[in-house]
Amino acid sequence: MKIDFDKYPYPKKIRHHTSSNLYFPIKDLKIVPSYYPPLYDDIDISKYFGNSKSPDILDIGCGKSKFLLAYSEQFPDRNILGIELRKGLVDWAQNYILNEGIKNAWVIWYSAVNGLKFIQDNSIAEVFYLFPDPWPKLKQQNRRLFSIEFLNELYRIMEHSGKLYISTDCDYVDEYHLKILKKSGLFDYEISSNKEWKYPRTNKEEFCIKNNIPIYRIEAIPKK
Ligand SMILES: C[S@@+](CC[C@H](N)C(=O)[O-])C[C@H]1O[C@@H](n2cnc3c(N)ncnc32)[C@H](O)[C@@H]1O
Repeated sequence: MKIDFDKYPYPKKIRHHTSSNLYFPIKDLKIVPSYYPPLYDDIDISKYFGNSKSPDILDIGCGKSKFLLAYSEQFPDRNILGIELRKGLVDWAQNYILNEGIKNAWVIWYSAVNGLKFIQDNSIAEVFYLFPDPWPKLKQQNRRLFSIEFLNELYRIMEHSGKLYISTDCDYVDEYHLKILKKSGLFDYEISSNKEWKYPRTNKEEFCIKNNIPIYRIEAIPKK
């Protein structure tokens, strides 16, 4: 997919990280700021797709949506939903999707730390969790989305034959993912760092490959 960035420039200022409140569940906040993304608990997510079917693919933390848009082109029979915190990037992706008439992709402005109640049980074939923010400082690690609760929610929404794809360029984040997966016990998983997946590259992945930065990859399958 070739995006015309003259026609669709990315927002001028994309803050690398957004306000710290947004990385925590709304239920844990004493005061909910006006800029907190909506919860979508009762939303019928199928209305965003041309075939009026629910999504079967999730891209959690889709960032600049390069992967999501290329995926939707490569797999026109699948509905891919992106979830992203940074509103400017969500607005950009929604505008692109609507203007280009793409029917099988959508991105919502949402903090996935609030769970995925708007996704039905056993409905998702593939979840992509690619290059999450690393949060290297100890006091910021509670902003990481990957947790036992997050894996419980993924296990609920994923088809039994589904697959969870996880990648990072940070060895300590990879170790953290493996630790949480082991603790959860809900997924069988294997390290697949030495093989590139058959999917389009994300923005971050392109950057890593161009700069010879190693990528750590995990494939996880829900236990029966
Ligand atoms: C390092 S970027 C990677 C983006 C993209 N996946 C890629 O590989 O290029 C991580 C993205 O996850 C988003 N993110 C972090 N926490 C999130 C959350 N709780 N809910 C939704 N998106 C989140 C960030 O805003 C950011 O855009």
